[in-house]
Amino acid sequence: MQVIRRNRILRQSYAVRSLVAETILSPNDFIVPLFIIEGAGIREEIPSMPGYFRMSLDLTVNEVKELWSMGLKSVLLFIKCKDELKDNKGTEALNPNGLMQRSIKAIKDACPDMLVMTDIALDPFSSYGHDGIVENNQIVNDATVEVLAQMSVSHAQAGADFVAPSDMMDGRIIAIREALEADGFNNTGIMAYSAKYASCFYGPFRDALDSAPGFGDKKTYQMDYANRKEAVKEVLMDVEEGADIVMVKPAMAYLDIIREVKNAIDIPVSAYHVSGEYAMIKAAAKMGWLDENKAVLESLTGIKRAGADLIATYYAKHAVQLLNN
Ligand code: PBG
Repeated sequence: MQVIRRNRILRQSYAVRSLVAETILSPNDFIVPLFIIEGAGIREEIPSMPGYFRMSLDLTVNEVKELWSMGLKSVLLFIKCKDELKDNKGTEALNPNGLMQRSIKAIKDACPDMLVMTDIALDPFSSYGHDGIVENNQIVNDATVEVLAQMSVSHAQAGADFVAPSDMMDGRIIAIREALEADGFNNTGIMAYSAKYASCFYGPFRDALDSAPGFGDKKTYQMDYANRKEAVKEVLMDVEEGADIVMVKPAMAYLDIIREVKNAIDIPVSAYHVSGEYAMIKAAAKMGWLDENKAVLESLTGIKRAGADLIATYYAKHAVQLLNN
């Protein structure tokens, strides 16, 4: 007897496709990045990220309440540091009354259940725009790690639920874990940007925070995009050092890395759908070349299908609106 396989049976209607779909997006999948600036009542559109805004803290707090009401449960905070506060060591990053620390407190006060994650890296605070301390045109590792550990404790003191080191220095996860423990912050999580590549797709983000490197590039610390096995090595080390969640970044050109990492470890994997990936869809949609709504859902579903348990994306709010319709 010849068995007849009609694969199209499972594709013939919206209903059957829905029943057998392997990957379903939900608001629980998303982390919402937020850009916070000094001042009050300020909401500035980022030119290279149309539809995305830098906001002062008062408006950010309202935004966070709205995000929570939509079912979004996690925000990732970035601040724009004033130029006059920047120096080589990122001293302002440790200021207990700095914009980041005030933001964490205000958001946790207004919306205590929202999971607050914070960026840990020196670049927004660095006069050189690098993620670490500069000596003789080099980014020095161990001195930077000490500052990152102190910065993490400072964010935990302000009330951060998770710190998210995005710097790619060696050994920073264990140093951060130890510093948090030493200060009694045994409930503060670490989402490690473990496989973060030196990518052109961060361009719009650097516009948003005015944090582009003043000299050179970030290739001596961020990964070479030619490499796949190295990502697994980085991730395994971060898991060993105490990371609670690991991240692959960017997402769309790195779906193979997301899958490789997902297969290699048992802790949650996040992916960062970065600023340039957002900008590409926006630009094509503006030209009338792509249907934005469809491109958003297809991209985010693809990232989840690749193996991401969590997705940091500037499209989180938009996606939730689409999912609700
Ligand atoms: C800072 C940091 C960057 C991003 C997140 N944290 C920029 C960089 O490494 O230069 C990029 C995010 C995005 O492009 O959306 N260490």
